Amino acid sequence: MMLKVITSNLGKVNEYRAALSSFGIDTEHLKVPYDEIQSSELTEVVGKAMEHLKASGLSDFIIDDSGIFADALNGFPGVFSAYALRTIGNAGILKLMENVADRKANFQCCIGCNIRGRDIIVLGRCDGVILTEETGTEGFGFDPIFSHDGKRSFAEIPLDEKNGISHRGDAVRLLVDEIKKMI
Ligand code: IMP
Repeated sequence: MMLKVITSNLGKVNEYRAALSSFGIDTEHLKVPYDEIQSSELTEVVGKAMEHLKASGLSDFIIDDSGIFADALNGFPGVFSAYALRTIGNAGILKLMENVADRKANFQCCIGCNIRGRDIIVLGRCDGVILTEETGTEGFGFDPIFSHDGKRSFAEIPLDEKNGISHRGDAVRLLVDEIKKMI
């Protein structure tokens, strides 16, 4: 079974390759720009983007919309995560969280998968904290400022370990459960 991973984010491509290969699913990276609607729900963004991609003739693919939600910031940056990273960056998020005692945050990953003519949408989650400084060199995006165990950031743990506990790893397992029901 082969799925196209449609994204411009190479970090995601690497994580999907590693996570899905262990379930016997091959991946191929495809860069197709598509518009994302603005919505407060990752699942709605993904659903609309899937319709757009299918209408342009694509099939057997996965797309991923993710975000980090900080409790003390009422869920910000959440669905605006890509914009927040592009504009204020990790340093800006840390600044917003300066002297904030409640560090709780969660990462969410919504996967939209079109497979054998069927659409599957799953939402994975990982709870943790926003650290007080950037640490680590692995991964991408918010990895240096997020920790699932309050000790090591996502940028300090190997990719396989991140897939074992991350929002994306969680979403992949939910997706594979759904795919298994089909075969
Ligand atoms: P996107 O819109 O799904 O690409 O992701 C929103 C933002 O969150 C982007 O800036 C990504 O780099 C970032 N992001 C998504 N997944 C992760 C992750 O697993 N670790 C760190 N940052 C992530």
